Amino acid sequence: MSATQNREISRRRTFAIISHPDAGKTTLTEKLLLYGGAIATAGAVKSKKTDRAARSDFMEMEQKRGISVSTAVMSFEFNNFAMNLLDTPGHNDFSEDTYRTLTAVDAVLMVIDSSKGVEKQTQKLLEVCRLKKTPVITMMNKMDLEGIDPLDLVDNLEKELGMECVPITWPIGKGREFKGVYHLEKKSVQFYLTHNQQKKNDTIDIDINSDSAAEIIGSHNIQKLREEIEMVSALTPPMDLQKFNNGQITPLFFGSALNNFGVQTVLEEFCRIGPPPQPRESITRVVEPEEEKFSGFVFKIQANMDKNHRDRMAFIRVCSGVFNRNMTLHQVRTNKDIIVRNAITFMARNRNIVETAYPGDIIGIPNHGTIQIGDTFTEGEDLQITGIPNFAPELFRRARLRDPLKAKALAKGLTEVCEEGAAQLFRPLQGSDYIIGALGELQFQVIQSRLENEYRVKADFETITRNVCRWVICNETTKKQLTTRYESDLFNDSKGNLCILSDNLFRCNQIADKYDDIKLTKTMENI
Ligand code: G4P
Repeated sequence: MSATQNREISRRRTFAIISHPDAGKTTLTEKLLLYGGAIATAGAVKSKKTDRAARSDFMEMEQKRGISVSTAVMSFEFNNFAMNLLDTPGHNDFSEDTYRTLTAVDAVLMVIDSSKGVEKQTQKLLEVCRLKKTPVITMMNKMDLEGIDPLDLVDNLEKELGMECVPITWPIGKGREFKGVYHLEKKSVQFYLTHNQQKKNDTIDIDINSDSAAEIIGSHNIQKLREEIEMVSALTPPMDLQKFNNGQITPLFFGSALNNFGVQTVLEEFCRIGPPPQPRESITRVVEPEEEKFSGFVFKIQANMDKNHRDRMAFIRVCSGVFNRNMTLHQVRTNKDIIVRNAITFMARNRNIVETAYPGDIIGIPNHGTIQIGDTFTEGEDLQITGIPNFAPELFRRARLRDPLKAKALAKGLTEVCEEGAAQLFRPLQGSDYIIGALGELQFQVIQSRLENEYRVKADFETITRNVCRWVICNETTKKQLTTRYESDLFNDSKGNLCILSDNLFRCNQIADKYDDIKLTKTMENI
């Protein structure tokens, strides 16, 4: 490994923001880009109600609806760190892509609306982080609003997410009385200003037990702060980097993204304690970022990124070695070599040709359907990186053709669109239906419109009673018995993996319990 590679690895931070819709992810993203110099002024990234350039709303439908279905990558520099922010759609209609993006990051920034506490979508996303023990930093946002008491918020976070919090900053007041935050380690107060578009907030070192502290932040505030700090110190564990790296504890910050308050502190701390690119598991061995030879995996495929480029983009997370322009990469699944002349990096809608990329970076390779999710690329080694699974969908629809003569086009369209990974295609063992499984309702509308526009197929998506999917892991003998006895419950996914689709989990377990060696899983490796 060269000294450059080593330096570039240690300064990279590849992360995603997770939140429930409306918690402030877009607003925070904008402020992060502002600090990173990727945009010049706050407000340049419009909200979802207007232009929303912060989102990668490439598809016409997304633009029309003003929501984002796709996941984009935004890279920026901050304090000599190279930040790669992977955007996870936060709208209610998020997709499997959102989940899978979390398998490509090394850490996560979790944003919570302090007036609401932990909400459903955050819980779901955190479940995925837990699978890989991803480190999580938490920002309690909207402290300028009358919200839940901070001690109750800590309690809520710990109960709902089963994760201990370590407050790094602590709020002084909230809502209209919000004065700023106290940094527990630095023992300083950062003062809050409403609608602050500048990057810096005034900070004063302070001994909260001194008389002057009362003068600086008010006698009522100091009394409350002293009491709360005492409780927080007694009730919360100390910061432990190992536990943080294992996803067992989360450092907690309070702020207001809209007012640009507390964002810089989070970003600085993220650079300081956030992990650099981490090793990745493969079927045969662990892949270290410092290795000389290149390796990377595909975690996302996106079609129609640009009307002028009717292609598919495969998003590759670099795991080891160095990528150089015009390099020959070996696609392990197909055993083919390709010369990559036009790999791309992303900044919102801008596409730049990549000259060099290091572990932690995301590069896009345009292709015409030859690259699939889960593909590993190497410099020749027969290596299959794991941990980029399919996730069990929660909504299912049956595709019904309006014109029966278009059956072939329907099959082709569904197969290709589902290969991109936002939804999955299932076929029953009994019958010839096409069943689409997704995590969000919107995916069905996206597929329907794409079938019509790209494949000239008009299809409807009918609701079916099934809404639980579990993959079945068992030996061949059991599989045979199972398929004879429970054929109507069984389906194959697009890779031929057997699964049960049912209207309730009880039914899935009931079937599995009949056999000793059946294991049901919620995720299935993309191998
Ligand atoms: P999301 O991406 O997580 O869905 O949330 P987004 O940033 O779009 O924020 C949702 C709403 O919350 C927005 O208001 C945004 O201005 C507001 N918001 C974000 N951070 C803060 C904060 O720190 N304090 C307060 N008071 N509000 C905050 P909106 O009215 O829905 O949209 P907009 O028209 O203001 O963009």
